[in-house]
Amino acid sequence: MIAKISDIAKYDGQEVTIQGWVANLRSSGKIVFLQLRDGSTGILQAVVSEKVSNKQVTYWKTVELLTIESSVVVNGKIRKESRAPGGFEMEVSDLRLVQRSVEFPIGKKEHGPEFLLDNRQLWLRSQRQVAILRVRDTIIWALREFFRKEGFVMTDTPILTPTSCEGTTTLFETEYFGEKAYLSQSGQLYLEALAMALGKVYDFGPTFRAEKSKTRRHLTEFWMLDAEMAFMDLSESITLQERMIVFVVKKVLAENKKELEILERDIKPLEKVAEGGFIRMTYDQALAELKKLGSDIKWGADLGNDDETILTKAYPKPIFVTHYPVEVKAFYMKPDPENPKTALCADLLAPEGYGEVIGGSQRIDDLKLLEQRLKEQKLPKKDFEWYLDLRRYGSVPHSGFGIGLERTVTWICGLKHVRESIPFPRMINRLTP
Ligand code: 4AD
Ligand code: MG
Repeated sequence: MIAKISDIAKYDGQEVTIQGWVANLRSSGKIVFLQLRDGSTGILQAVVSEKVSNKQVTYWKTVELLTIESSVVVNGKIRKESRAPGGFEMEVSDLRLVQRSVEFPIGKKEHGPEFLLDNRQLWLRSQRQVAILRVRDTIIWALREFFRKEGFVMTDTPILTPTSCEGTTTLFETEYFGEKAYLSQSGQLYLEALAMALGKVYDFGPTFRAEKSKTRRHLTEFWMLDAEMAFMDLSESITLQERMIVFVVKKVLAENKKELEILERDIKPLEKVAEGGFIRMTYDQALAELKKLGSDIKWGADLGNDDETILTKAYPKPIFVTHYPVEVKAFYMKPDPENPKTALCADLLAPEGYGEVIGGSQRIDDLKLLEQRLKEQKLPKKDFEWYLDLRRYGSVPHSGFGIGLERTVTWICGLKHVRESIPFPRMINRLTP
């Protein structure tokens, strides 16, 4: 019977097969201790002795060939062993070498991040990276499950686009049969068209920003889930976002206990988030708070990375910062009728210093105002005619938001840098492997 290491406890006393790799090995004379990994969470110690029941084992020669990361198929009996990782070990009765690995470059000593990233194809095999990718998987499915339950339609928006969505400074340009095209920064504009067709919609796919910043929060290619809701205002959208985050965090806490342990993630702050009751404050309130915390931010500036860090360290719950000045936000955001210098928008800042994970707003639904905003931002009207149509043919109040998957994974896993949250990170100085 082929067993998975993650549920090895189920097989106590039974003879099972493990298909996997030798994560580590050490020998003391006639006994070899293998640390096996098989892609599931956890490590299984497998003990090979030269003799089993007084009989010389036939595969001892094979055992002597084993190296770190050699692929193997191992049979043996599972028994309780409190000193072994995971509390069980295997007494090996047979072992087949699938391929003898050449010397593995990772693991002998401490490595710097650049070395590990250069060897990302192999680094991915470490327990820590496996744990992160499993949490990422849980988050993706939790998001999908949430939106399905809420009655949203999952749909898709294009990656090759003729215009920008989030400003022209971070566009990746490419040649498109003699014309210019850009890689999508967000599916939002297209999603607005889909919301007018289907009501409540979301997309989930890769997005691109030619970010020249080398921060722990920025990738040039990342996954975004955009959601767009017809007949919904900013406040209702914020409530929906809070429900979504609570749902996702609860799922991870329920399904990824072992992974969070491997990552040494303190789960108390996550349990606080799972209670709901997120904080809402306006940009003006955030500024007042930031000044008290020592920031010299002036009205009209976007919150910087450091501002987000100190603000979110001061509160145990995620914070919705609303009503930013219109100048620092995208052209499509609806100005607040009560104070048109500010937009009906909200960024969700994750606690513990993590900062922005969601950006969203109510959209301008008035044709004239939207035309004026395009002009002010020097965006070519003719390229946006199709988008303006949404305000000509049955325009309705509508809102939406985008959640960055990698920022969310980084926060929930408690990582120091966003680069570990995606299998193959793309950053200003990295396109390989
Ligand atoms: O705040 P942003 O730029 O919002 C939009 O793109 C809207 N069009 C979304 C919408 O309303 N449908 O990006 C949304 C989120 C950010 O909050 C952040 O989590 C993530 O995308 N993000 C990045 N993640 C990693 N690296 C980057 N360079 C990112 N830029 C944005
Ligand atoms: Mg943003």
